[in-house]
Formats: sequence, C-alpha cells, structure tokens
Amino acid sequence: MSVTRAAITAVGHYTPPKVLSNFELEKLVDTNDEWIRTRTGISERRIMEHGATSDMAVLAVKNMAERFKIDLSEVEVVILATVTPDMFFPATAVLVGHKLGMKKAWGFDISAACSGFLYALATGAKFIESGANKKVLVIGADKMSAIIDYSDRNTCILFGDAAACVLLEPSEDPTYGLLDHRLYSDGAGGEFLHMKAGGSLNPASHETVDKKMHYIFQDGKNVFRLAVKGMADVSAEVMEQNGLKGDDVAWLVPHQANLRIIDATAERMGIDRSKVMINIDKYGNTTAATIPLCLSEWHASGQLRRGQNIVLAAFGAGYTWGAALVKWSIGTKA
Ligand code: UT7
Repeated sequence: MSVTRAAITAVGHYTPPKVLSNFELEKLVDTNDEWIRTRTGISERRIMEHGATSDMAVLAVKNMAERFKIDLSEVEVVILATVTPDMFFPATAVLVGHKLGMKKAWGFDISAACSGFLYALATGAKFIESGANKKVLVIGADKMSAIIDYSDRNTCILFGDAAACVLLEPSEDPTYGLLDHRLYSDGAGGEFLHMKAGGSLNPASHETVDKKMHYIFQDGKNVFRLAVKGMADVSAEVMEQNGLKGDDVAWLVPHQANLRIIDATAERMGIDRSKVMINIDKYGNTTAATIPLCLSEWHASGQLRRGQNIVLAAFGAGYTWGAALVKWSIGTKA
C-alpha cells in the first residue's frame, strides 16, 4: 500500500512594522541592552499596534498566496496555533477563514503555546495522510504584546508579535514531506509558565485586573532548565529514530525563546551554528509563529533546497515539546 505524506508546498509570514528595541525597553523597566542580548540573544521585537492575532494571520496567509499563487478558495481546513486568540470564541482560525473568504474551509485553534505550530503541523498532516483532505492551511500566530506586562522585566524583554503559515498538500513523492514527529506534554509544568486569569479558574474581575493576573507569568529559570533538556532530547530522538547524524541535517529550525537554548540543542545534535535558523535577534519569542516564520524567511532568501532534511524543534508552556523531521519539498534540488 502506498503511503501518502503531507508536504509543505507554500510558506508565508507577516511581522508588524513597529520595532520595540532593547533601548526602548530600558526606558520602561530596569534592564539594559547588554543584559538582554547576552542572556537571550534578542535585540528587538515587533509590536502589532492596531488589530488582533487574526489580522496578522490574514496578512501572513496573503503573503503566502501572493508568493506561491495559491487560490485560497481551495483551502479545506485551517488550523491555527495561538495562545492569544482574538477572543475565547469563536476560534481565530474561523475568523481568518471568514476574512479571507475561504467558504469551503472549516477550522479550529490549537493551544500548545510555543509548541503550537508543531502540534498544528502534526495534526494537519493527519488530514492529508488519511486522504481526507488535499489542502490544509497551518498557521502559527501570536500577539504576545496583548498579554505582556511592560513593567515586568522578567517577561517583557522576551516576547514579540508575528504570524506565519504553511500549506500542506499530498506529497507527489512519498519520500518527501513530514517524515516523522514526536510530541510530548506534561501538565506538571503548568505552574511555571501560564496566564492566571481570564479562564474558568479565575474569571475576569476587578481583583484579577488589580492583581495583574491577565499577563504572562514565567519562572524563567525552571523553564530554561527543562527547555534545554526537552528540546535537545526530542531532537536527538527524532534523529536517532531516522538514522540521521548531524551531517545529514541541512537545517535545524528551533523555537526562538533564548539563543542559549538554541545553541545547547544544536550542540547536542552535532549541528553547526551555520545550519541553525536564528532570527531571535530581530523578533524575540513570537510563540507559535517562530518556526514557520523561520521557514518562510529562509525560503524567501533562497536558502532552502528541495530534498534537504530539516528538523523542527520546540518547547513551551504546558509543558509541551516536540520535534519533527521534514524533507523539504519546495524549489529546486540541492
Ligand atoms: O518559549 C517558552 C519557553 N520560555 C523559555 O524558554 C524562556 C526560558 N528562560 C529564559 O530564557 C531565561 O531564564 C531568562 C532569559 C528569562 C532569564 O535568564 P537567566 O539567565 O535565567 O536569568 P535569571 O532569571 O537567573 O536572572 C539573573 C539575574 C537576576 O539578578 P540576581 O538575582 O542575580 O541579582 C535577575 O534579577 O538577572 C536579573 N534580571 C535582569 N536583569 C536585567 C532578570 N531579568 C532581567 C532583565 N534585565 N530583564
């Protein structure tokens, strides 16, 4: 029986034009450019001044449609990973479908924080692999500035806003596309990275607002320790599982949370820094958008080749973590 695999056949992204530099943050909290750059690798991040997560997602999808001449009316499923939906409901995926006139598509959101794109990619691939669908749009989008306390130096330096997407279609050659993935979650991590209020546990009230419970809380040290281990372990697992050595991998696409976590993962995988996609310096941590944003930017700059082995890896709130192996399908062969 022949296998149907899901191939990434198009990519797109949107980053808002407003730049928030480390120097501007120096004016808001007790921090400095040198500390932020050396501890995180971040120099600046983007801020969506007007509009919501769906508006960034729409612009990312339009970017993809223009670059790859995609007829969006043919999209059948929209899966959007985010922790900053426009509203609790309806799902942001459905709003994006409406704004783009995708009459045929149904959709839903996935909440897996920084691993959201990997969860959404794996889920979207199942619709293709099962033969149920031929065009699945997978979006990672987060307006982190909406849930950041810009008087908290522990978190406000880290995050930014962005959206990016990929289109999944059946691969013409079954040796291409999403070849493997490993996903994990452990709710014991919930206490270290979360937003306390707004949900059914602590519905919005004057008290929750006064106590600043509608912002991100992070115990950075704990998350850092587990992220280094989690991302490196799962990336190594996917490589071993598929008999790959560092030299066999053309690109590592890590979630962009901290340059030190990225470097530790690359080192464990035996992958040289020159083969690691890094744009954390420009955008900070854009949560669900980091991985597709890298893919879209690297494709736009002509650095991706058909047939290359690419490992995607992420770690985030939950905890959630995972890695995926993709044989790149777009463009000309290396
Ligand atoms: O994407 C979701 C997953 N999230 C992550 O992966 C983030 C993981 N965590 C991290 O990236 C790091 O833990 C941080 C970047 C958040 C913090 O870096 P760190 O090296 O763990 O610093 P720290 O929290 O141990 O703080 C070191 C010192 C402290 O001062 P003392 O106690 O040594 O005097 C902090 O108070 O740095 C201080 N500090 C700051 N100084 C200047 C903390 N934040 C800042 C700041 N500017 N923004």
